[in-house]
Amino acid sequence: MNIILLGPPGAGKGTQASRLEADRGMVQLSTGDMLRAAVKAGTPTGLQAKKVMDAGELVSDEIVSGIIGDRLDQPDTENGVIFDGYPRTAAQATALDELLAERGRKLDYVIELKVDEDALVDRIVGRFTCATCGAGYHERYKQPKVEGSCDVCGGHEFKRRPDDNAETVRTRMAEYRAKTAPILPIYEARGLVRRVDGMADIDTVTREIEAVLDGRADSGSPSPRI
Ligand code: AP5
Repeated sequence: MNIILLGPPGAGKGTQASRLEADRGMVQLSTGDMLRAAVKAGTPTGLQAKKVMDAGELVSDEIVSGIIGDRLDQPDTENGVIFDGYPRTAAQATALDELLAERGRKLDYVIELKVDEDALVDRIVGRFTCATCGAGYHERYKQPKVEGSCDVCGGHEFKRRPDDNAETVRTRMAEYRAKTAPILPIYEARGLVRRVDGMADIDTVTREIEAVLDGRADSGSPSPRI
């Protein structure tokens, strides 16, 4: 099964994708994580992407679709992929169709996480991760069980993303509204979209997504959230 988790910054795409990866053996393909790894490694792609990412704008379609194509050639993706943060433009949606078709695969669902915009800044600005294993936390919604110690690896160092500040978040939201939200109707016309309430607590959102993947949910209905 190949699915897209679609939603604005802070909607919970990464949180839910990691859970699905652990629970279902699907592979999480996060273009944000891949680009951050390239930035950290100082590759030419990383050097090109860093300034754009720090400003909250979108990296070029060619770069991200190239990264996804390379990753889809690795055999671990054959059992199913969760696309997290990709596609983000109509051109990327077209590229993804081609990349999957070339490999004899197809999209099964596009799961839209519906959230209130006001909550997103709070979610993003409070977010931090373990510097050792990357496990995600939030100052209010998901603290480590033992203060100062990662639940997963016991690491004691935590970090924040450079683009997780209120000003950049506003640009990221604007990019989402202008370039990413318009791709939903393309998938709607193909009957692939399922909507999940991303404002519910993390466990409930996971259960709702699982219900979609297990065929226990209906096709969802439009809601006023973004
Ligand atoms: P990317 O890394 O994809 O960032 P994003 O889309 O802005 O999404 P986030 O990672 O901020 O949010 P999320 O939805 O994953 O939420 P999370 O689960 O962490 O992209 C970064 C940049 O890379 C882009 O701006 C762009 O420059 C570039 N880029 C990436 N992909 C690209 C592409 N395809 N094309 C072009 N450029 C690209 O949750 C957020 C917080 O909320 C966490 O602390 C979490 O614990 C908490 N939380 C999650 N769910 C809940 C819940 N239900 N209730 C309460 N708290 C919750």
